[in-house]
Amino acid sequence: MSNAGDFAPNTKTHEMAMEDKITSVSKEKRVIKPAAEFQKQANIGSMTAYRKMYRESINSPSKFWAKQAKDFLVWRKPWNKVVEWKAPHAKWFTGGMINVAENCLDRHLGTARENKAAIIFEGEPGDVRTITYKQLHGEVCRFANVLTRLGVKKGDRVAIYLPMVPEAAVAMLATARIGAIHTVIFGGFSSSAITERVNDCEAKLVITADGGYRRGGVVELKKNVDEALKKTPSVEKVVVVRRCGNSVQMKKGRDVWYHEELEEASPVHKAKGFSSENPLFILYTSGSTGKPKGVLHTSAGYLLGTALTSYYVFDLKEYDTYWCSADVGWITGHSYVVYGPLCSGATTVMYEGAPNYPDIDRFWSIIERHRISIFYTAPTAIRAFMRGGDEPVKKHDMSSLRLLGTVGEPINPEAWMWYYKTIGGGRCPVVDTWWQTETGAIMITPLPGVTPMKPGSATLPFFGVEPEVVDDSGRKVPKNSGGKLVIKRPWPSMLRTLWGDDKRFKEQYWSQFPGIYFCGDGCRQDKDGYYWIVGRIDDVLNVSGHRLGTAELESALVSHADVAEAAIVSKPDEIKGSGVVAFVTLKAGRNGSDNLKKTLREHVGKEIGPIARPDEIRFTEGLPKTRSGKIMRRILKEVASGGDRYGDVTTLEDFNVVARLAKTGEDE
Ligand code: WT7
Repeated sequence: MSNAGDFAPNTKTHEMAMEDKITSVSKEKRVIKPAAEFQKQANIGSMTAYRKMYRESINSPSKFWAKQAKDFLVWRKPWNKVVEWKAPHAKWFTGGMINVAENCLDRHLGTARENKAAIIFEGEPGDVRTITYKQLHGEVCRFANVLTRLGVKKGDRVAIYLPMVPEAAVAMLATARIGAIHTVIFGGFSSSAITERVNDCEAKLVITADGGYRRGGVVELKKNVDEALKKTPSVEKVVVVRRCGNSVQMKKGRDVWYHEELEEASPVHKAKGFSSENPLFILYTSGSTGKPKGVLHTSAGYLLGTALTSYYVFDLKEYDTYWCSADVGWITGHSYVVYGPLCSGATTVMYEGAPNYPDIDRFWSIIERHRISIFYTAPTAIRAFMRGGDEPVKKHDMSSLRLLGTVGEPINPEAWMWYYKTIGGGRCPVVDTWWQTETGAIMITPLPGVTPMKPGSATLPFFGVEPEVVDDSGRKVPKNSGGKLVIKRPWPSMLRTLWGDDKRFKEQYWSQFPGIYFCGDGCRQDKDGYYWIVGRIDDVLNVSGHRLGTAELESALVSHADVAEAAIVSKPDEIKGSGVVAFVTLKAGRNGSDNLKKTLREHVGKEIGPIARPDEIRFTEGLPKTRSGKIMRRILKEVASGGDRYGDVTTLEDFNVVARLAKTGEDE
């Protein structure tokens, strides 16, 4: 449970002596009914309709999924069997043949969509490109021919290390089109992260760019690749996209320019069908420490999961301009920037740069200028904007928005309300979507316009998803008590294994409760059946015998008017086993004082109860986060205990944060 490098010996013995129950302490009671106007036009029209369809999906899964697969995908050859389940291995739509890229592109040609924008791209410097389905199809076909000419075949691994530019989508789709497997490496990762991932999957070819724009500067991606490739024997070719025009070294015989190759390539490419279970991509996701896990997704089931959720959760309509602000380096970028929206024929927006460049209102300016109707982002971004106040939002016309979404971590109710009111003007439903890299697609979520929303809860399961909150022996816990979140049956977009490590796959997800998927999250189900994620089990705190989820404590702190963001960790305490340390960032213009510390402790005591009062509060300018917005609690734990063994910090968004954090304890 605990990872090496932290306080495993102490906490572990302590935890084992404890009851396995997680105490959930949130007192959030608000219910927000969706607007009738939205409901009238929603893709699913009522709770009755949702419940009926959900029941069908659970009672007759094969029939349900067969119908969806027929309605949402185009097939080269129909499947024989909907699912073959030999726990923990699932195969979906066996016998079927499909081409993922054809589903995202060719199927829209010859329809009214062919001249519709598939991608609207905005670069950080402000350059805008609109690419229609027909144009995107042409470029993907050309690039598929290039990849083939460079020796890439079905099953080969292709690493993609690009900024958020349309070529990233082209690279993914072209790789998929020829039945090869992509692994997208986030453009913010360092060269050692590239080496590790490329070697793990033995990629044959790397697609990168000279550079990408970030906060006004150029991130030299090709340089990182050159460094990384000193130790990657599998790589034969490198394709380089010209983005910034910065000078790069091209290695003879290995490196080629994307634009030069495309020029020579034929725009005609006949897509072949591949089996439903042909691997589509590997995406590395880090555990809190140790070697990243290569989550493997395959073709038909994954695509169906993303297409179905895109349609129902984002209520996609032909006229929508949809923007998911995630980078393609994360699963959200795979499923809800590229595959889900394009399979649905939607217009998907890609933005290259930082959310606060040149100013904190960049996102709102993008929404105003492109008339975006659906916006999907992360709680960490929402809290950062909230910290800057309402003024930057009010400068812009946000009336094009009709639906908002969030993903990545539990959203604290205060941030939810701000998002709903200030960004959505109180008229847009907010879909708080719970899912994981491993689940491929959204699992627990409101249906917009239909599900009554509770700020902070991802609400109810999507079709075909059977969650349960259980204790350590796998028994369902009573409503309103905390436990572990499991998924009790296979679903089409689930991960198939971890690349090259089926043993770890079994141990990680299927060993706690045999035959049942354990996602690693703590959770509580309320009396209405709503799910409330209380945080990762690894982060659960143990305070005088109570196991508390970090999310609820952090949310209590953030509900104080002066607080922008908070992160809670435990530190070893000789008497209590562990004590609670809160790292707090304040809203603009607020000052951290001893008085405020006292007030905040009392505030948490009032919101939750005296047991949860932090032992120590430290004000800080920033929190150590990964670029996907997850707080790196491992680092905070180390800081809280006065240590400096931070471990691997290559995924850290801002290295300076650690130095500043270390100073937070100096006045104590
Ligand atoms: C973990 C998965 C799924 C795409 C982005 C993250 C947390 C995610 C929510 C939510 C509460 C959430 C969970 C989950 N998480 N969405 N709506 N409410 N928690 O993907 O990096 O694989 O992380 O993120 O802890 O297990 P990921």
